[in-house]
Amino acid sequence: MMSDSVSSVPAQGSELARPAGWDSLLPRPQGVRAESASETFSLTAGTGIISDAALLTAARLFAQHLADGCGVALHCVDAAAPLAQALQVSVRFIHDDSLTSSYSLAVDAVAGIEVRARDAAGAFNAVATLRQLAGVAAFRRSHSAATSVQFAVTSFEDSPRFGWRGVLLDVARHFMPKHDVLRYLDQAHAHKFNVVHLHLTDDQGWRVEIKRYPRLTEVGSWRTESNVGPWRHNIHDGRPHGGFYTQEDLREIVAYAHARGITVLPEIDVPGHAEAAIAAYPELGCALEGDVPATVRTSWGISTNVLRPNWETLEFFKNVFDELMDIFDGPFVGLGGDEVPPLLWREDETVVAFAREQGMDSVDELHGWFLGKLGEFVVSRGRRPVVWDEGVSEHLPLESVVTTWRGYVSGASAMAQGYDIVLAPEQDLYLDHRAAEGEQEPIPVGFVRTLEDVLAFEPDAIPHFENQGEGIVENQGRVGRLLGIQAQLWSEQLDSPRRVDYAAFPRLCAVAEVAWSPKTDRSQGTPASAEFVDRLVTHHLPRLEAAGVEYRPLDGPLPWQQRPGVSGWPRDLNEEIEASGSGEFVGGWHEGMELHVSELDVDMEGATSAATSEVRPG
Ligand code: ACM
Repeated sequence: MMSDSVSSVPAQGSELARPAGWDSLLPRPQGVRAESASETFSLTAGTGIISDAALLTAARLFAQHLADGCGVALHCVDAAAPLAQALQVSVRFIHDDSLTSSYSLAVDAVAGIEVRARDAAGAFNAVATLRQLAGVAAFRRSHSAATSVQFAVTSFEDSPRFGWRGVLLDVARHFMPKHDVLRYLDQAHAHKFNVVHLHLTDDQGWRVEIKRYPRLTEVGSWRTESNVGPWRHNIHDGRPHGGFYTQEDLREIVAYAHARGITVLPEIDVPGHAEAAIAAYPELGCALEGDVPATVRTSWGISTNVLRPNWETLEFFKNVFDELMDIFDGPFVGLGGDEVPPLLWREDETVVAFAREQGMDSVDELHGWFLGKLGEFVVSRGRRPVVWDEGVSEHLPLESVVTTWRGYVSGASAMAQGYDIVLAPEQDLYLDHRAAEGEQEPIPVGFVRTLEDVLAFEPDAIPHFENQGEGIVENQGRVGRLLGIQAQLWSEQLDSPRRVDYAAFPRLCAVAEVAWSPKTDRSQGTPASAEFVDRLVTHHLPRLEAAGVEYRPLDGPLPWQQRPGVSGWPRDLNEEIEASGSGEFVGGWHEGMELHVSELDVDMEGATSAATSEVRPG
């Protein structure tokens, strides 16, 4: 006869019965004090988690992982609440601001789990660790009621190597539905990333509701069709694409991130990459009487159709950023600033006259002027602007953080000028680039960046950054610091969250290791590289599977992860280094570069077609 009662005892051999140890953790923690191979603590349903008030959100997150994934429900209360006295306590979260590490963790077979954290961030990091120690089940969304979870007895302290551990989601080129953004925030926390950079606008789409300017989303949030593959092949799919987040959606995203210790960095890209805004409000652009009006761009690549730099455009974007800063309460606000060809400005008499009025010798300087003015506005609201490295100029406030992507020299230069920087180099940390040689990779673009290549990324080994962390040069009383590293998931070729998963994982796990774990040589063939891959395969890929992450198998794509018939645009890093003439890779737009010419740019064809070198294939 079938029983109608639900078993509350985890089956032998189930994910709950297999506790993981310190050596399963990814990223690897800073240090280990002691661990017992055989002893375990049995965390029992119905017992309590008590937490100092400052850490309570993190403690609740741990309780949620246990309840959802493991089916073990615990009470979670403020340690100062009367109810705390009545609980049989199995987990304590203690706020200890004298701690020199981010957090410490002690699992005792009898006394249970004790987390000490210097601050809320430390407690969120501890929860990411505890979730891994709880076993694979803790990465599932649901589980039938169980009675206990086993934890290996252990004791260690842990701290991150870098303060900024970022990942960029490009929700502009292909819209990522809100629930997948939330899923990515969960994955970011699971890997101890603490900054999620949302690239919210670009030529191909505007994804954030701005109440004062409704056409930004009415017109700018969708396009009639998209390139299939790189723009150079000029193939379009004839299929509308779009989507945007309401302000309430974004507040939910911010709150969800906050409840995981993550800062969301919103980016509105100006004065280039703004064709969707220009399509919505043509006066923002440089079209002249008789020109074909801009539409939301349907091709990838760099657009010459950039904002018209003047006081009116500046006022418009101050209003946009005002609403943005009302939604996103974090310390950083992204202004973009990358890839701004000044070609239309040079042909436009009113822009030339405006530059002259500002005392400039060249309209090219308006790029820095526009970002500088907007940056000052952001600073006046108590936030720090974040710009791509092309945005550095004498106009840029020193409070700005520079995400450096065009090789290494731009980062060193920004730091030498006193800016804090985040290393986001295209040749190392662009995860939309192909993960292996060969046509089996879906739409293979960019350089080959294998899992092992990404893992080998070592900021200290870059000639310009040997002294990272100490700061390099002082400028007006400021020392430029290397804040950390950031991976990018540009989505021109990543047309669905499944495809983002494939590009991101497991290489993002390697970025997490570099960002968090102690410095060591992880280049290919080293013991550290082999140990990482072993830990990934043995312990971490099962976690990703449990979480429903459709990662790239280490031996190549599954049949349905391929895109037969869609050509890519592979690039060769060594060739580009050689072509640069400087012995270094230098990406980004430069004078004379070959660009895709849209209808509005037709007049500029002569100016743009003379070039020979390549744009980052999008
Ligand atoms: C960039 O890849 N244009 C920042």
